[in-house]
Amino acid sequence: MNYKIALIKGDGIGPEVVNEAVGVLEAVGEKFGHTFEYVDVLLGGCATDAVGKSYPDDTAEKCRTCDAVLLGAVGGPKWGSDKPAEQRPETALLAIRRDLGLYANLRPAVLRPAMADACPLKKETAEKGIDLMMVRELTGGVYFGKRDRYQTPDRGVECTDLMAYSEQEIERIGRRAFEMARLRGKKLASVDKANVLETSRLWREVMHRLAGEYPDVAYSDVLVDNCAMQLVRDPSQFDVVVTENMFGDILSDEASMITGSIGLLPSASIGDTAPGLYEPIHGSAPDIAGQDKANPIATILSVAMMMRYSFQRPGEAAAIERAVDAVLAEGWRTADIAGPGVTPIGTRRMGELIRGRI
Ligand code: NAI
Ligand code: MG
Repeated sequence: MNYKIALIKGDGIGPEVVNEAVGVLEAVGEKFGHTFEYVDVLLGGCATDAVGKSYPDDTAEKCRTCDAVLLGAVGGPKWGSDKPAEQRPETALLAIRRDLGLYANLRPAVLRPAMADACPLKKETAEKGIDLMMVRELTGGVYFGKRDRYQTPDRGVECTDLMAYSEQEIERIGRRAFEMARLRGKKLASVDKANVLETSRLWREVMHRLAGEYPDVAYSDVLVDNCAMQLVRDPSQFDVVVTENMFGDILSDEASMITGSIGLLPSASIGDTAPGLYEPIHGSAPDIAGQDKANPIATILSVAMMMRYSFQRPGEAAAIERAVDAVLAEGWRTADIAGPGVTPIGTRRMGELIRGRI
């Protein structure tokens, strides 16, 4: 097959990690008989520098002509919060997700076998393993609700952020999560705050309706505060976890930290028609940019997710994941995951080793 991939390399370490992921794609192409075509797309601070705004007009259109999008990372102190919104990289990230209709954010949290020592949880807990998939609703809820700021007569300034969800929004993310559970361990936990929030009560009603359609998936409701506790007490109890936007933002960061390193975790944002967007969960790491120090594994594993979820190529995805695990098992580490006494290798060398194991 020939696949066309939009590359949004972005800022900071973005270009460095994307280059290594492209190298791995090339190795996959050679082994499995695919070819990849790349289209460079500008977004983020680099776009502000080039054309004066972080989200150039043709960005989404260029992405739509491709089969998938690979994004490095955007942002940096140079384009900080003192700049107008259209020049800020964060604005561009929200805009591209919205314009491509990417309503489902998939964040696996996996403790890679060779990295068990990096897990900050109790040894007995880590030994049970962590392999969960967080499915976060990405285009609704309080982050996209109406907001307001006004002066009150007696209480100073008051602000509001509206949390809203429709049945349709809940149902489409719910279906994604049930389908994902079918592909994995057939267990789904739906996280809400139904004891307090009306949006959560609707969330639960819709999820229960769907649960009837997926009798092969073991379904449970979990309150968000309890979920936060259970993630550090015993994350092995979770397979797929689905939740609304803000809860998912917080819980997915928590889930990633229990696996030890942000340099290892990929993510995907998908919709119904537009190409899926794949990216590491980390940012542009300006502190180490341009020094050949960044860990490219999160981006390389993002490409594995692309193979699995956009191209339905689980064999290719597994080959990438096995290559990463093999290199880690041999003890190779970039600086962010090198323990005491371990000499770290650079970004390019890590990429080269993983390519070699494909
Ligand atoms: P960050 O993830 O860029 O860095 C946090 C810490 O982790 C830094 O010490 C960094 O050196 C380290 N780190 C991150 N990725 C690494 C990797 N692959 N290998 C080795 N070490 C790594 O988060 P921070 O510092 O909060 O944000 C920096 C910039 O990135 C900001 O402008 C922020 O807005 C942006 N950002 C962009 C995201 C995106 O493009 N999706 C996501 C998060 C932040
Ligand atoms: Mg976050």
